[in-house]
Amino acid sequence: MANVTVIGAQWGDEGKGKIVDWLASRADAVVRFQGGHNAGHTLVVGNQVYKLSLLPSGIVTGTLSIIGNGVVLDPWHLKSEIEKLEGQGVVINTENFAVADNCPLILPLHRDLDGLREAAAGSGKIGTTGRGIGPAYEDKVGRRAIRVCDLAHLDALDAQLDRLCAHHDALRAGFGQPAVDRAALIAELKEIAPFVLQYAQPVWKRLKKVRKAGARILFEGAQGVLLDVDHGTYPFVTSSNTVSGTAASGSGLGPSSAGFVLGIVKAYTTRVGSGPFPTELDDETGQCLGERGHEFGTVTGRKRRCGWFDAVLVRQSCAISGVTGIALTKLDVLDGFETVKICTGYRLGGKILDYFPSHAADQANVEPIYEEMEGWSGTTAGARSWADLPAQAIKYIQRVQELIETPVALVSTSPEREDTILVRDPFVD
Ligand code: GDP
Ligand code: IMO
Ligand code: MG
Repeated sequence: MANVTVIGAQWGDEGKGKIVDWLASRADAVVRFQGGHNAGHTLVVGNQVYKLSLLPSGIVTGTLSIIGNGVVLDPWHLKSEIEKLEGQGVVINTENFAVADNCPLILPLHRDLDGLREAAAGSGKIGTTGRGIGPAYEDKVGRRAIRVCDLAHLDALDAQLDRLCAHHDALRAGFGQPAVDRAALIAELKEIAPFVLQYAQPVWKRLKKVRKAGARILFEGAQGVLLDVDHGTYPFVTSSNTVSGTAASGSGLGPSSAGFVLGIVKAYTTRVGSGPFPTELDDETGQCLGERGHEFGTVTGRKRRCGWFDAVLVRQSCAISGVTGIALTKLDVLDGFETVKICTGYRLGGKILDYFPSHAADQANVEPIYEEMEGWSGTTAGARSWADLPAQAIKYIQRVQELIETPVALVSTSPEREDTILVRDPFVD
């Protein structure tokens, strides 16, 4: 039975949430496998708008939704996000929602450290979401994290807290901050523990059962390949692997479970936070893309940087992540442009490159080589079939898939769930 792994193929905010929500009604389980509440996924269903950061987007359709071990979990945020969605009528209970008991926790001390480092970095800051993601992942690989399963054993936490606080107290002292208030931390953990523990379980076991029953699993990536800690624009990246391969390690299923890898690709490019961006437009056109696309971050409200479609980057992302097919989103934002540009290569020091180099200075210095295409005067907004698209928009899609060497499986033409064109069904491929 086909599973689908959804990943972002640019710098995040490609419209993953919308596509996962659209696919979720045909899936039996939706699994988040990396990242945390740095993600911001907006779903529009009729006149309801749902904003999710930590919960899998499948929760809105009531599909079994699972937070895998690869996620870093802020338990207080989990509670507030669940309460917010319940306030919008979404049903969340122990039948349709589970959290891996081996997820590392994001604690207030992680958020503190994230903020202190960013403030100290000045103009060299990463531009993180400030949610403690990086410090929490550091503690995970540093083998000093407090995990969900520890919430059931808070009276035996002393040795773990010694390790954790020895590390953080030294860092905090360097920033002129007081040591961690251990008593307050334990008290806060005791208060939140029962809420989290009701959902906690070894999710690999639940997923094994789902898989054995022949059910369809939809893996929901957060961020995008260009923010991947190995393959992205390092150091201006997030602290997890965002590529499709993480679906397996971040949920407790083997690599053969990934199925169809659906790369979500915006019809132009955006980025929020610092770091290189070859096709960035600091002009009216960039402004126009931002306004038409409502390019403001869901999590931080920051204005997203905008630019033309970069086929070199997306071709690289698709190769690195083994993308089977893409969902091209926000095509409607390009409606009405007289001409549209696509970056097909870079110039760097007199050489032509057909890939994005690894070194930060090279990434910052590449100059895009553009191909210009005629725009379309008709509208794609709200189109639900290929036949509804203007001929020139079809040409743009075809040129994109040719340049990225990956076929288009879906096209999205508005924020609304149903404004989606199915070209090739990822579940039956
Ligand atoms: P994600 O992080 O990848 O889930 O993407 P975000 O939700 O952060 O950002 C995508 C934004 O674009 C959201 O506000 C969506 O509602 C919106 N969106 C998604 N698909 C489309 C589309 O095809 N057209 C338009 N105009 N908006 C879209
Ligand atoms: P979704 O899932 C866009 C960016 C931040 C910053 C960098 C590191 O909505 O696509 P972090 O807080 O993770 O340490 O920040 O990564 N970033 C995102 N940008 N979409 C996201 O998620 C992002 N999550 C993190 O802006 O540049
Ligand atoms: Mg987002």
